Amino acid sequence: MNNTVISVENLTKRYDLGVIGTGTLSRDLNRWWARVRNQPDPYTRIGQRDRFEQIGQSILALDNVSFTVQQGEALGIIGRNGAGKSTLLKILSRVTAPTSGVVKIKGRIGSLLEVGTGFHPELTGRENVFLNGAILGMRKDEVQRKFDEIVDFSGVEKFIDTPVKRYSSGMYVRLAFAVAAHLDPEILVVDEVLAVGDAEFQKKCLGKMGDVAGEGRTVLFVSHNMTAIQNLCRHAIWLTEGEINKSGNSAEVVNDYLSKQFEELEPFVDFSERSGGEKFDEHIFENVSLQNKYGLTNEFFTGDTLILEASLNLDPERINLANFGFDIKDKSEKIVLASNTRQYYSSLPVNKKGRYLLRFSITDLCLNQGYYTISLFIGNEIRDFEIIQDAIKFIVKWKPRADLREPLHSWGPLALPITWEWNSNNQ
Ligand SMILES: Nc1ncnc2c1ncn2[C@@H]1O[C@H](COP(=O)(O)OP(=O)(O)OP(=O)(O)O)[C@@H](O)[C@H]1O
Ligand SMILES: [Mg+2]
Repeated sequence: MNNTVISVENLTKRYDLGVIGTGTLSRDLNRWWARVRNQPDPYTRIGQRDRFEQIGQSILALDNVSFTVQQGEALGIIGRNGAGKSTLLKILSRVTAPTSGVVKIKGRIGSLLEVGTGFHPELTGRENVFLNGAILGMRKDEVQRKFDEIVDFSGVEKFIDTPVKRYSSGMYVRLAFAVAAHLDPEILVVDEVLAVGDAEFQKKCLGKMGDVAGEGRTVLFVSHNMTAIQNLCRHAIWLTEGEINKSGNSAEVVNDYLSKQFEELEPFVDFSERSGGEKFDEHIFENVSLQNKYGLTNEFFTGDTLILEASLNLDPERINLANFGFDIKDKSEKIVLASNTRQYYSSLPVNKKGRYLLRFSITDLCLNQGYYTISLFIGNEIRDFEIIQDAIKFIVKWKPRADLREPLHSWGPLALPITWEWNSNNQ
């Protein structure tokens, strides 16, 4: 029997580039102003071609992609920003149409795409649950039967009759996930849900997706969290610039992907032109850089000073006392260190609208050799305003020294000084 539920053949998606909106009006104006003055596009990332040169041209977001998914399979889709992951899910969920190629799907799809699709901002949580049920072809009484379970899972009970535009990004995603996972889809499509929400909710989502897969339903999961991909998915596809770079066993695909990523470290990362996949309306972080005592670098020795500098765009009308935080994860995505300004009892005052420079340093970087990533967030007491997962990466190397041998790679990420004592009791 043929158990193929999704079949994708030679799928291509081409976006024609006019001047694409940057996401905010002020940025669009800056871009327009630069263009008028014949200056380069201020929001082009380093290493990217100037977008102005591309006007009238097009981007191949997906380039001749073919694959099949079997009933009950959990398939992970990975790749760098802009690789085409969300575009693929949007085509499968029929949010957007392909330029060419054939997509065949057997079964009802429940999708959790980027925040903004699927939910209507003016409607309440309750109304959105019913709206989504109707889109999935369910009757009102069928949705009604699932309703309590959905609300219970989402934990937004108190706000279920509030329009979802008033929800924090975390609440929004909680409800959207609960809807997508509980309305009995035969195929569950999830884009990056784990980037928001606390660790407990992330675990709950992964558990629920595991249950859905275990019930013989099919799951497609896009994430930058490689541990989650490996835990949930037996198979994975790695997209590079719209093409399938590698597919197969998820542990192997993830391993190749991670090795490749650390070959291309940049000590300065500009966020001003981020492609899709963001869960936040705000674009607060503009760029981030790493330095040691001598200047920009991604390479540190154990014991060095690490300085992180971020440029942020803030408006006191939206956020007047900010809390900035970060975490450092090792290659297996475990947090080895995290902190925020409130831990030091200092919220950051925002008095004027404009650009702020934030800087922190860690003296004596007590990490063993290996690869690390830093994620950044900014919020206030009530909610997160922006989280940038894996904002910047660095590598730690061991500098040979006479008094201490090099630790083994298997000894974990921490390099703390240890004092040894030894006495004989045999006098
Ligand atoms: N509506 C659009 N108009 C023009 N270009 C688009 C549009 N949506 C996506 N793109 C472009 O298509 C490419 C693929 O984008 P896509 O959002 O699918 O990437 P992604 O892999 O999901 O990235 P991320 O990890 O950042 O979410 C990018 O170059 C992006 O800029
Ligand atoms: Mg995306």
